[in-house]
Amino acid sequence: MIEKINAAKAALDEIKDGFIVGIGTGSTVAIFIRLLGEKIRNEGIKIKAIPTSYQSAYIAMENGIELTSLEEYPEIDLAVDGADEVDSELNLIKGGGAALTREKIVDSSAKKFVVIVDSSKLVKRLGERCAVPIEVIPMAWKKVAKAVERLGGKAVLRDGGDRKDGPIITDNGNFIIDARFEKIERDLEVKLKIIPGVVEVGLFMDMVDVVYVGNKEGFKKLSKRN
Ligand code: A5P
Repeated sequence: MIEKINAAKAALDEIKDGFIVGIGTGSTVAIFIRLLGEKIRNEGIKIKAIPTSYQSAYIAMENGIELTSLEEYPEIDLAVDGADEVDSELNLIKGGGAALTREKIVDSSAKKFVVIVDSSKLVKRLGERCAVPIEVIPMAWKKVAKAVERLGGKAVLRDGGDRKDGPIITDNGNFIIDARFEKIERDLEVKLKIIPGVVEVGLFMDMVDVVYVGNKEGFKKLSKRN
């Protein structure tokens, strides 16, 4: 928990008065949103946020953060988001919380994309621990699963667990396939994206500007220019 808090605190310094900020999804971003609410109240600054999920929208509302939309601001100053895996080139796997599609839309619209993680998220190679989440149109899921297998992956339809019978449904009304790959080549994102029925792929390649990795004492800043 302390690592997530320290990563979230580090990203707060990126916020400037008047910014339009994209806010990702997940437990680390939830901490960031609460801290952002405090910063806005303490410093009297004006910020508008674009959420990437119902969860983030509701936390922002509870913390008095004004919300806006990408329709109003198609280009935004900053996006702050979490990740499930970060490799040494700052490529990511995202979508553990099924929010990958809106996250990729918002994160890719930002002049600066900042990622906040605890140290457990750093990996030598993508796919080391996590499957690649793929958001799919429900009627296409078996067809997509077969195509994933032809690309060398193992595809599983994500289940709703104890709180939902059957597959989970994303904020966009779709299913999630979790695809495990032994090796993830740079072009896998594109190969998956062109399968009919695929809405978005949880590989975020060459998108990140800065990663703040929280540790017990503070944080470490990683950027491509390191
Ligand atoms: C949401 O779909 C994901 O992309 C999250 O950003 C990711 O799972 C990180 O979440 P945590 O901060 O909870 O680990």
